[in-house]
Amino acid sequence: MTRDSRGKYLSPHLVRTTSESLTGAGFSVITLTRVSKDYPPRGLALEEVSLHIGKGEMAFLTGHSGSGKSTTLRLIHMAEKPSAGEVRVSGFSSQLVSGRDIWKLRRRVGCVFQDFQLLPGRTAMENVAFALEVTGNRRGEILPKASRLLAKVGLSAKSGALVHELSGGEQQRVAVARALANEPLVLLADEPTGNLDERASRGIMELFKELNAQGMTVLMATHDLDMIRKYPRVRVLELNEGRLAYDSAAVAEPN
Ligand SMILES: Nc1ncnc2c1ncn2[C@@H]1O[C@H](COP(=O)(O)OP(=O)(O)OP(=O)(O)O)[C@@H](O)[C@H]1O
Ligand SMILES: [Mg+2]
Repeated sequence: MTRDSRGKYLSPHLVRTTSESLTGAGFSVITLTRVSKDYPPRGLALEEVSLHIGKGEMAFLTGHSGSGKSTTLRLIHMAEKPSAGEVRVSGFSSQLVSGRDIWKLRRRVGCVFQDFQLLPGRTAMENVAFALEVTGNRRGEILPKASRLLAKVGLSAKSGALVHELSGGEQQRVAVARALANEPLVLLADEPTGNLDERASRGIMELFKELNAQGMTVLMATHDLDMIRKYPRVRVLELNEGRLAYDSAAVAEPN
């Protein structure tokens, strides 16, 4: 059984998945074509997953623990290669991509994680500045750019605070600002609200919605069904034991 975005159960035969999905948002920026990922001896973490995510689209990637959400995000980030099938992101193909291209691609894909992964003992500003530094921004540009990014995530007032002086929600905002440092086309978020209370989670979701309204493609893994229900207009992709079991953008036809 699969659910629609409001948690209503749908019979699987009512749901079209894979390449028939409508993106509803123009060109595909992320395309998975019959992607499988094998982790021997465990077996397949993903099995023949096909999906398109359009430029400027926002989607939740949901499913039980172990269903393959993080694996999917790692493949899209090209941190790993699929065992079979093809991942295409912004014109780069997992089958053709070289070491140098992977770095170009990663600049177009920002990532945010459940545990924020900030540099401890540094300020919010330093964390964002560091990301700008390592990606080759000119010295004189770094601080103004970091300030603009922190303003964008609503954290200007806390830019001088050390990371451990910030709340979880504020730390996640720093992580989002850092992920935006390269002006990515795509923002991937792996359970970004997993360590946050309801109010802070809502704040992060609103921030993602805002970024999406400005044209950013956003794919967010979450198993928080309450959160998904609160955003019924956001596309839902559901994995079940490594297979794409439901796509709300696919047209559900009546019996
Ligand atoms: N590097 C790895 N080596 C071996 N098995 C792995 C590896 N990464 C993931 N797996 C396995 O693949 C399956 C999918 O894992 P994945 O982390 O993608 O799930 P998930 O949906 O993100 O789960 P969660 O909600 O707990 O984060 C799991 O059974 C996991 O044990
Ligand atoms: Mg995961």
